[in-house]
Amino acid sequence: MTTRGPSVVLGVGGGIAAYKVASLLRLLTESGHDVTVVPTESALRFVGAPTWEALSGKPVRADVWSQVPEVPHVRLGKSADLVVVAPATADLMARAAAGMADDLLTATLLTARCPVVMAPAMHTEMWEHPATQANVATLTARGVHVVPPASGRLTGSDSGAGRLQEPEDLYAVCLRLLAGSPPAGEDQPAASDILVARATETSDASEGERGSLGGRRVVVTAGGTREPLDPVRYLGNRSSGKQGYALAQVAAARGAQVTLVSANAALAAPEGVEVVPVGTALELQDAVVQAAKDADVVIMAAAVADFRPRDVATTKIKKTHADTPGQRDESAPTIDLVRNPDILAGLVKVRGEATSPVLVGFAAETGDQSGSVIFHAMDKLVRKGCDLLVVNEVGDGLAFGTDGNTVHLLFRDGLPGAGYAPQIGPAPKDQIAAAVWDGIQTIL
Ligand code: C5P
Repeated sequence: MTTRGPSVVLGVGGGIAAYKVASLLRLLTESGHDVTVVPTESALRFVGAPTWEALSGKPVRADVWSQVPEVPHVRLGKSADLVVVAPATADLMARAAAGMADDLLTATLLTARCPVVMAPAMHTEMWEHPATQANVATLTARGVHVVPPASGRLTGSDSGAGRLQEPEDLYAVCLRLLAGSPPAGEDQPAASDILVARATETSDASEGERGSLGGRRVVVTAGGTREPLDPVRYLGNRSSGKQGYALAQVAAARGAQVTLVSANAALAAPEGVEVVPVGTALELQDAVVQAAKDADVVIMAAAVADFRPRDVATTKIKKTHADTPGQRDESAPTIDLVRNPDILAGLVKVRGEATSPVLVGFAAETGDQSGSVIFHAMDKLVRKGCDLLVVNEVGDGLAFGTDGNTVHLLFRDGLPGAGYAPQIGPAPKDQIAAAVWDGIQTIL
């Protein structure tokens, strides 16, 4: 007997962003969800029924006049574990807010008793119009989880608020709701909106925030550790330390007392920050554990080597490296490695014993055939057990050593006001740092 996964109705509105929703459908079906796609008539003008049928493996219809004996307009809503509508257009939200039932999707929305998510996408003017905002307020008051649109490039040459959130982020919202943990605090302004907007505003994002970390002790690690092989060689990585330094600088500007544990970064110390220079992972661990004792927040932005050479030669290893004097060995030496401790995991383990700092990890991830960047990162967040994971997409010259960055914030307990993984950037690293601190401060 095959067990069916949770039953999801994927409503698709008539907007250009419908093409992105095909990716959301794939994420849902490939992770075992039983998805029925219910497009509107106009959605089918953007992406046709064959695409939805091929990806969901089920027939697709928009009206209530086919397969009438099955009473689909009642059955679909009643049997769903989750209804997600993307893109939710201005028109579709207006019809849903008015309680209309003039097609299969709006009828399904009236009969659904499960969580409902709507992800609006439209031009900024339509999104900001009081009519749309009133409809969003009505839907939210009735318990619909409205995922605010991102700011960025829209259709044509426009840009502004109104962009559909990325399929991976919507997928993360769906998983949270299906797991029975609705995003917390939805009566607050959407924090994700604030974060995204901050990151695209001026580089003085922290200007109005001076003093908001007053009285807090924070520890930031930055740079990349170097694990010596001999007096002149080491195993290292390409981390420049720029993002960690930017985080330390923003925290100091907001009034925090900051200890920056810096591994081999060739950068000037930010004003008002105590810098503790370290070389290896073990040195970094000693410094962090010491500084974390009375800290409110620890951010592990450093790239810590997972392995170090078992033995460190006291003299330079020669090309002809034989141990026995007088002999010459022309082969290449073999380097034995041992594991370094996972410092972040160690901090998670002792959390709550003496102090309970907010623990923030960084993850440099690439997507692959088994899943997207967010997919792998969610796995890592659970494994690491930290409060927030800042996910960096790497590869192809992204992130390392550059001045700009794009990250996603994955919160262990959901983001107040949204509860999913907002994208921050692309933006300079100081703006990313300000948005990361905004996120941390929602936990504090
Ligand atoms: O598992 P991964 O190395 O990708 O996790 C990255 C996060 O874990 C970063 O926050 C990094 O600073 C931290 N880390 C650590 N100790 C290690 C390796 C990574 O604390 N040995």
